[in-house]
Amino acid sequence: MKYVIGNWKSNQNITESLVWLDGISALRPKFSPNIQVILCLPFTDIAAFNQHLADLNLPIITGSQNVSHLLPGKHTGEITANMLGELVSYCIVGHSERRHDFKESSDLVAQKARLLLENSITPIVCLDLPYLDEQIKALFNLDIDVSRCFFVYEPITAIGTGKPINPVEANHVAGQIAFLTDNTAPILYGGSVSQDNVASFVEQNKIDGVLIGTDSLEPTLFAGIINSLS
Ligand code: PGA
Repeated sequence: MKYVIGNWKSNQNITESLVWLDGISALRPKFSPNIQVILCLPFTDIAAFNQHLADLNLPIITGSQNVSHLLPGKHTGEITANMLGELVSYCIVGHSERRHDFKESSDLVAQKARLLLENSITPIVCLDLPYLDEQIKALFNLDIDVSRCFFVYEPITAIGTGKPINPVEANHVAGQIAFLTDNTAPILYGGSVSQDNVASFVEQNKIDGVLIGTDSLEPTLFAGIINSLS
């Protein structure tokens, strides 16, 4: 199985998300049973998007991009894993934008991953050099079953820059992640993936898919990525 995961970040309101879905539907990308397409949305879009997805009968699975590290309770404004359990199957945690901009530590990311798993949501854990060891060790410290997670190698220099790293280099790091997680979980690459370069990453023997930011926002480009792999 290969995985194509979109990450809209803080883009698209509800109306725009439904227009995107109509756009993808009209383009009829070649969805294949060997490719799982997952789209990680802003919290505010998820319910309406899921409803429209069901109406259109498209094989896209939804995810979120963050979750609280806290259990339900008196935490004004927090969105808990329990709330998300009714809405999504996946959730990104530890994206470098959150580690950097919101000072999220590896321990905090691990707490989020644990709560997600307790609510049957697959954590998509983003990792980067030179912190792989520490980032993965934090998961083991909380007894997290890493075989139930996805991992994404996201080199900071490649995120949103239009400058992906060399696929062979990405494969090498994916191999390191596979080793550190006992070869049990899907390993993806993220950073300036486009319809033109996606195949060069996914054909690597240690890379099971891609995480796409910028080019997931435009239906034509996202459909192009799906078609490039079909
Ligand atoms: P990008 O973002 O595709 O725009 O480089 C990737 C990501 O941040 O997940």
